[in-house]
Amino acid sequence: MKVLAVSGSLRAESHNTSLLRAAVDAAPDGVEVELWEGVGDLPIYDQDLESDPPESVRRLREDWAAADAILFATPEYNGSVPGGLKNAIDWASRPVRESALTNQNVAVIGASTGQFGAMWAQADLRKSLGIAGARVLGDELPVTRVHEKLDHVGRLLDEELFERLRLLLETLAAEACPAEVAV
Ligand SMILES: Cc1cc2nc3c(=O)[nH]c(=O)nc-3n(C[C@H](O)[C@H](O)[C@H](O)COP(=O)(O)O)c2cc1C
Repeated sequence: MKVLAVSGSLRAESHNTSLLRAAVDAAPDGVEVELWEGVGDLPIYDQDLESDPPESVRRLREDWAAADAILFATPEYNGSVPGGLKNAIDWASRPVRESALTNQNVAVIGASTGQFGAMWAQADLRKSLGIAGARVLGDELPVTRVHEKLDHVGRLLDEELFERLRLLLETLAAEACPAEVAV
């Protein structure tokens, strides 16, 4: 089964994107995690473009709908989800009858350099995904002081966190493709 990994941060040295790279390695047998990097290509949501959207939006709809599950990693910007990620959710949720999020299996993690691990952003993202019709699985995974858990090139140093990523992917896999994955 294929899990798309979507980061809410566009910066090259993003800690959240580094966690998703660690999730590629943490994936249990039978689960392929693939980074999806189109968030920054999307225009700001405009309902007038819905029926004939630009290529970046078509790709979002096709790729997200084709995935067996989606793992989001979000930073927290001013107490909530970064605008670019929320924008992607808005595009994916429309048109409602073709929404790439309806019944899609999703999980949310989040990291910050502070003490709270993007908790508010994760809560808001889970709420938006649920309202868009996704099946929000697993618990939140707030990663605090994330810069201390990665090395200078973004490799995960924290074994317990690696294990928690693996368990979250197992939960996603068990719900999304129970027949394919022995967990
Ligand atoms: C515009 C902006 C707003 C931020 N607001 C918050 C915040 O509300 N709460 C928080 O814990 N960290 C906040 N931060 C710090 C981020 O959590 C931190 O920079 C994090 O590492 C960003 O994720 P990234 O490394 O994946 O890019 C903010 C950072 C930026 C750039």
